[in-house]
Amino acid sequence: MARTDIEIAGVEKRYGDHVALAGVTLSIPAGQFVALVGASGSGKTTLLKTLNRLITPDAGGIRIGGGDIAVGAPHLLRRRIGYVFQEVGLFPHLTVGENIAVTPRLLGWAPERVAALTRDLLALVALPAAMASRAPAELSGGQRQRVGVARALAAEPGILLMDEPFGALDPLTRDALGTDVRALHERLGLTTVMVTHDMAEAVLLADRIVVLRDGAVVADGAPEDLVRTVADAGVRDLLDAPRRQALRLAARLGGGQ
Ligand SMILES: Nc1ncnc2c1ncn2[C@@H]1O[C@H](COP(=O)(O)OP(=O)(O)O)[C@@H](O)[C@H]1O
Ligand SMILES: [Mg+2]
Repeated sequence: MARTDIEIAGVEKRYGDHVALAGVTLSIPAGQFVALVGASGSGKTTLLKTLNRLITPDAGGIRIGGGDIAVGAPHLLRRRIGYVFQEVGLFPHLTVGENIAVTPRLLGWAPERVAALTRDLLALVALPAAMASRAPAELSGGQRQRVGVARALAAEPGILLMDEPFGALDPLTRDALGTDVRALHERLGLTTVMVTHDMAEAVLLADRIVVLRDGAVVADGAPEDLVRTVADAGVRDLLDAPRRQALRLAARLGGGQ
């Protein structure tokens, strides 16, 4: 699959008088893992959804792999972009395997090819092959989210978008899944944009953190640089939260080592 860059230029979105996106410009090189953070209502989901045309901007434009995404059919665009929702949204009446293979089936792939792909994708997200015949309701939250990731990758997209994908999971599951998704990102050469409200997760997984406030980018850079370079005290506080928490934890637990 082709490595895919994303160019967001002056994207604006209003709902009535409310400005959801106030002119966002971002250049995301192919292969980068970006964490999109910011308070609730800052425009994270809106921005993510403009990338696969679930939302149409009022102004500005987006290019993916050099091409204007406003040109052509939305379903062709979405095939190149995997999307993982916070609430996984698996079809309850379909098996895990059928859920993963929804897109390949729509594309008319032969049954043997679909079966092979389903096996590969389950292995990719570290689920046992036997899980293909289970119902989503029989899986844990973490397993369901793994199925959501497998489904998002079924059409071999170059881009993976995730909207608070691990928000509902317990900390250990969250940690394991985050690490696995980062490994998949590397292995598949994806360009990944992940919305998260967990700054520690952003720092640990992403190459770059973009902070939104009131629909505008207020900080943007590598995790290790941002804390030092950001002028805005509020944003600096937010970015520094994981370090402060780690220090408090170490003090409380006696430091070790
Ligand atoms: N369909 C909509 N109609 C009206 N307002 C909306 C709609 N979608 C989002 N908004 C508003 O736009 C702002 C940004 O929303 P959103 O992108 O969902 O924020 P985030 O994902 O950062 O929490 C919020 O103030 C939200 O209430
Ligand atoms: Mg949101």
